[in-house]
Amino acid sequence: MEVVVKDSYEEMSKLSAEMIAEVIRRKPRAVLGLATGSTPLGTYKELVRLHQQEGLDFSRAITFNLDEYVGLTHDHPQSYHFFMWENLFKQININAKNVHIPDGTAKDIPGFCRWYEEQIVKTGGLDLQLLGIGGNGHIAFNEPGSSLGSRTRVKTLDDKTRQDNARFFRSLNEVPKYAMTMGIGTIMDARQLILLANGAGKAEAIAKTCEGPITAIVPATIVQLHPKATIIVDKPAASKLSREYPAEPRILVLA
Ligand code: PGA
Repeated sequence: MEVVVKDSYEEMSKLSAEMIAEVIRRKPRAVLGLATGSTPLGTYKELVRLHQQEGLDFSRAITFNLDEYVGLTHDHPQSYHFFMWENLFKQININAKNVHIPDGTAKDIPGFCRWYEEQIVKTGGLDLQLLGIGGNGHIAFNEPGSSLGSRTRVKTLDDKTRQDNARFFRSLNEVPKYAMTMGIGTIMDARQLILLANGAGKAEAIAKTCEGPITAIVPATIVQLHPKATIIVDKPAASKLSREYPAEPRILVLA
């Protein structure tokens, strides 16, 4: 695991986009695991710029998103389907057939979760998984206490997560109570991980993730066991780390 501290959100986003771009340049049919939330927005903006201005080609790339709220239709403005098409897919040359996002409206949710896991394996497995982190240390919607070996399934959202995400809805009541999420085991099977965090609100979770003991109570701590993980944070998110960390990763593509 490598920790990289950047001066700003923009620099953090540029580095993560460059790392993703390099995976695609080396392997045009790369299988990318993508995340939602406010954290990766800058990364997606930079990937769009790399596509539009520098010809970064997504035509053969395959994507799998981490999670989706149960019960929200794909056109709901807070669904992760809507988020991904608005903030990334509409603006790049991805083939819609290559996009996979958990279906929160699936009738047979356990069956869908099994199918999702099978699709990841069928395409050759995730080359790179992009992650944010919750203020409570969750990755995807694997809330504190999640099994560190879990696979794609439904999770009940933590009160803290629902409160954190209420800013996107009209009221806390409207925030869904359940989500479908890749498991921690699913995430750890990816060949490379990038975990991003910005802002002082993430400082405690980042200190525990980078320097604390591995525990299911802080699911992101599992990243310490991944052989090719890069945690990229801005200065405020790094403010509770006890050690000094570099501003550049040793190498861009660890694969
Ligand atoms: P955020 O969410 O990027 O909106 O802070 C991150 C997360 O909950 O994983």
